[in-house]
Amino acid sequence: MDVLKYLEECAALVEPEINRWIPREVQPEVLVRAMRHLIEAGGKRLRPCLTMTACEAVGGKKEDAIETAAALELFHNFTLIHDDIMDHDEFRRNVKTVHVIWGEPIAIIAGDALFAKVFEAAAANASRLGMNLERTVELFNTLSRASFELCQGQVLDMLFEKRDDVTEEEYMRMISGKTGALTEAATRVGALLGNASREKIQALSSYGRLIGVAFQMQDDLLGVLGKQEKFGKPIGSDIREGKRTLIIVKALTSAPEREKRILLKAFGKSNATNEEIRKAIEVLKKVGAVEYVAEKARKMVAKAKMKLKVLPDSKAKEALLGIADFVVEREF
Ligand code: IPE
Ligand code: IPE
Ligand code: MG
Ligand code: MG
Repeated sequence: MDVLKYLEECAALVEPEINRWIPREVQPEVLVRAMRHLIEAGGKRLRPCLTMTACEAVGGKKEDAIETAAALELFHNFTLIHDDIMDHDEFRRNVKTVHVIWGEPIAIIAGDALFAKVFEAAAANASRLGMNLERTVELFNTLSRASFELCQGQVLDMLFEKRDDVTEEEYMRMISGKTGALTEAATRVGALLGNASREKIQALSSYGRLIGVAFQMQDDLLGVLGKQEKFGKPIGSDIREGKRTLIIVKALTSAPEREKRILLKAFGKSNATNEEIRKAIEVLKKVGAVEYVAEKARKMVAKAKMKLKVLPDSKAKEALLGIADFVVEREF
């Protein structure tokens, strides 16, 4: 199974649908430009791919879930625009972030506008399929609950910057909210649109949550070990911003005094030099924090794959298994 090729195929399928929900002629022009900026810059389109593949894995067709798949990408891009404001990040997908180009007020409203389209697209999907009331309510509930949980995770992420006693358990809860909630929603809505049994909806939801958590751990790893060109985001910005990733949490509890001092010279220091960042990253590797997080992420992926046992063998199931591995093997 060539996962990269599979993701590209999903992306090509959902692209016109994403475009349909944010037509270029929308007014005012600056709104649609700000809404489209990150979307046009690329991205893996992982969440729509999860939605369509989950739908297929329970016996539906990818096309049955196409509007909601697009909605998940609009949702994701909304969170990215607002997240970059919160994190003071200037680059994503190798382009300048929305607030850097248009300022924070326009970035906030462009995010809100994308979020509004999520529900319009999902409604169109439910209506086209003639979905029953109970399932329709569940579809919307899934999206609403994920939004709220994501907000909780994002607030924890920011609160943790100001604390030096964040535990592994707290970190896991935070990423489960900020990232796992949306990947769970992606697979869950796919299963709902495919008219899956309760058991399969539950299995795909758990799978989505687990790979989302592993995805975030890998993202944190790439944030210190990745190649900027490939990753599309600045390396070391979590360190400068003082983000309590598990790598940092682990390193600060296990590093000897000397190494800890090197780490603290860069951690939370927005003006840390590239050399100070490089040395801090060396410490993260040396004290075993990197390997610890990588191993934990691999275990989550193994657990996610186990959840799929209730699904009959199919191409779609194979794709979900491949995507689970991709999440922790990816370099972008
Ligand atoms: C970035 O998500 C935000 C995180 C949850 C870490 P992706 O890595 O899926 O971003 P794109 O869509 O491919 O740019
Ligand atoms: C990921 O946040 C989750 C959301 C965007 C809601 P991060 O802040 O960890 O991800 P990047 O590194 O900016 O993509
Ligand atoms: Mg961020
Ligand atoms: Mg963030």
